Amino acid sequence: MTIQRERWSSKLIFIFAAVGSAVGLGNVWRFPYLAGKYGGGAFLIPYIIMLFVLGLPLLIMEFAIGQKMQLGAVGAFQKIKQKLAGIGMAAVLCGFVVVTYYAVIMAWSLLYMFFSFKLSWGADTESFFFNQVLHLSGGAGDPGQIVLPILFALVAVWIMIYFSIWKGVKSVGKVVMITMPLPVILLVVLLIRGVTLPGAADGIIFYLKPDFNALLDLAVWRAAASQIFFTLSLAFGIMIAYASFQHESSDISKTAIITSLINSTISIVAGFAVFSTLGYMAVQSGVSIADLAGASGPSLAFIVFPKALSLMPMAGLFAVLFFVMLISLAIDSAFSLVEAASTVLCDNYPHLRKEDISFYVCVANFICGIIFTSFAGLYYLDITDHFITNYGLVAAGLLEIWAVVHFYGAEKLRAYINEVSDIKIGRLWSITITYIIPVLLLVLLITGLVQDISEPYGGYPQWALFCFGWLVLIMVFTASFLFSHFAAKSREKEEKTL
Ligand code: ALA
Repeated sequence: MTIQRERWSSKLIFIFAAVGSAVGLGNVWRFPYLAGKYGGGAFLIPYIIMLFVLGLPLLIMEFAIGQKMQLGAVGAFQKIKQKLAGIGMAAVLCGFVVVTYYAVIMAWSLLYMFFSFKLSWGADTESFFFNQVLHLSGGAGDPGQIVLPILFALVAVWIMIYFSIWKGVKSVGKVVMITMPLPVILLVVLLIRGVTLPGAADGIIFYLKPDFNALLDLAVWRAAASQIFFTLSLAFGIMIAYASFQHESSDISKTAIITSLINSTISIVAGFAVFSTLGYMAVQSGVSIADLAGASGPSLAFIVFPKALSLMPMAGLFAVLFFVMLISLAIDSAFSLVEAASTVLCDNYPHLRKEDISFYVCVANFICGIIFTSFAGLYYLDITDHFITNYGLVAAGLLEIWAVVHFYGAEKLRAYINEVSDIKIGRLWSITITYIIPVLLLVLLITGLVQDISEPYGGYPQWALFCFGWLVLIMVFTASFLFSHFAAKSREKEEKTL
């Protein structure tokens, strides 16, 4: 029996969904804090280089594989070669891990939406976030308890995610029509407020001024590369799954260019909004911008934005709008992460209902995310994010490239892309994915490993790095390997019995 594959209702909806998946907390939460941590302008150059050298070519590759194979990540690689199924699984599992903590950040945003009515954070937004919202403990070794408001908010977030995708592509298509454009408009409002604050210019200079010495620091390049993976939803299995709902003859290169440019523009605009406000905060507090940005890490957005919002006329209204924006920005990325997993399950179990599959994926994600709602949740989240993005996504991306280049053929894929696309891509694309990206990623991966082994990330205790970092990676890649192995075995058996 051939089951008709679901389809996007129009090309525009596909672009909205792809941009919606790409644009998320990665742009407004992760990008600004990395830019702050690595010295503003010092981060921007590697980020832009990585966008063109790594991000765009890989996005084209993922779109092409999904669209050509007409299957989610696992099926697509399985179609290239039976034994490669695990590569798709590794990508999907990385996405699964990311969305467990991603939803927790959405839960913080949801709480902040309620705090916004009364601007509950007061003047000291930093202390409010750490002490009153997170109840942050003294260290990773002190997990304390579950923070109930965050847990309840997490339940609400998962309910929202579930109802966005329960009908598959049809409900996703409707939701993204709102959740994609709304946040962009609100971000522009915040940008205007930010740049008109006293001190904003200093913040913007910090953000834009290139620091050429920092370019010699491989840590900055690693952070930029992993951010590109995260922000373009690469090596999560998402873009492969989304493109698989396109007709085989749809344009690929134009869609990839539009998606990556809109996505990075939004990150850069978010950066302007954050750093102009940081400039203002620096003037007010007498603390340098670098110190303010560096000390906040993953909390930056929740400290800086509330501050900026309090300074607006009709602050309460704008604050509510802002957190609605953050949630709507994040929700289409979150449900795309769930969609990657449920598409794979639907491809493998076509007799099961999509609603049921998505439900179980959401429940499993929720349960795994509870640990991040503890008093030490922020530490665990920071560790998991570091390991899964720096190693998980990069390794899954490398495996995808290996599969495409060695078992399918870069030139064969390029021929297909050019056949269906208006903008033709040259041989440079094939050279980039065959040689440049693999060498680049291997260098970053190996130097990252050396760095992490010689110096514990973030000064966290080794046991915490093991449990929330290395162990997560070991589980993801072992499960993927076993999946490949058993899937191939059961296929052999099936073929023998036929
Ligand atoms: N691409 C998504 C984001 O940036 C995961 O938030």
